[in-house]
Amino acid sequence: MKDTLRSLTWTGKALRLLDQTLLPEQLVYWDCTESRQVADAIRILAVRGAPAIGVAAAYACVLALREAQKGGGDWAAISSRFHDACTYIDQARPTAVNLSWAVRQMRDVFAASAPEMAEENLLARAQAIEEEDRATCRRIGENGAALFAGRTGLNLLTHCNTGALATAGIGTAFGVFVTLAERGQIRCVYADETRPLLQGARLTATELMEDSIPCCLIADTMSAAVMRDRRIDAVIVGADRIAANGDTANKIGTYSLAVLAAYHHIPFYIAAPFSTFDFTIQSGKDIVIEERDADEVRRFGGVYTAPRRVPVYNPAFDVTPAELIRGIITERGVLTPPFADSISQYERSLSNE
Ligand code: MRU
Repeated sequence: MKDTLRSLTWTGKALRLLDQTLLPEQLVYWDCTESRQVADAIRILAVRGAPAIGVAAAYACVLALREAQKGGGDWAAISSRFHDACTYIDQARPTAVNLSWAVRQMRDVFAASAPEMAEENLLARAQAIEEEDRATCRRIGENGAALFAGRTGLNLLTHCNTGALATAGIGTAFGVFVTLAERGQIRCVYADETRPLLQGARLTATELMEDSIPCCLIADTMSAAVMRDRRIDAVIVGADRIAANGDTANKIGTYSLAVLAAYHHIPFYIAAPFSTFDFTIQSGKDIVIEERDADEVRRFGGVYTAPRRVPVYNPAFDVTPAELIRGIITERGVLTPPFADSISQYERSLSNE
């Protein structure tokens, strides 16, 4: 991955974000010195992808404390301003659990810190979250690649963007592609364009080309034909929230792919780190699905492609039922059905650290 395609960089004074809404045509970076700027960047998808949102939110909390301290007053006043800013960050987007997971950690670190240590401790935790994500992506890549040991000429299909732009590392599902490509096992990664905002076309296709991974971009409407005609070996996608029973929220269109994969007897895998699991919810019914602005569907690149006032339904995510998922590739191995058991074992292994 080229360094220019890093989704975020902490500069010491600011969180530098690559504005992903302008890719692939323009490389524009924003230096966010205020927590609200980061939260708003998350809201408009300048930074997006569940793990990257979590890392960005953690750094936003560091900025939030700096702002709260500048406002003066006693520690109670600073603390109250810090928590208000954390709430604003937390509410930027509802579906990717990595966001609230990161903000909760930062609030906990704040609560456990003496005032003179709070900023240093928050920064250390944000950096640890970023570093951990980088290492986690590598392990997901290894564990996913192990599923295809000894095989070459693989045709894989993916949706949305799960690469370096969506994480702090090589990516989740994309990390599996990178690892397999390093071992010469890939014939082609087919990338869905991912309507309405084209994360597949604008971001995944860019990353595949940058990493010289053999690839082919397709419109979302082509997936069924590609599965039937191009001998797809597996579908691998990312996740925004995984419930305790394995039901998984990911970019809208993922559910259709899972149904199509089942029809064509193609294994369907999710790749995700521990920060994407929501062990507190029993099933996908409890996942809040973000609905976004109607104009995202009515127009693209500022040009209307539909009547300006046509009613629109624009859920940003859908939930794939666990029964359609062959395995969940994590940093600790591949979880398999029954997911209620494998996920609870996974949760126990995390809490035993
Ligand atoms: O709306 P987005 O672009 O943030 O949606 C991103 C996705 O759905 C990704 O597939 C998911 O976050 C996994 S990122 C490794």
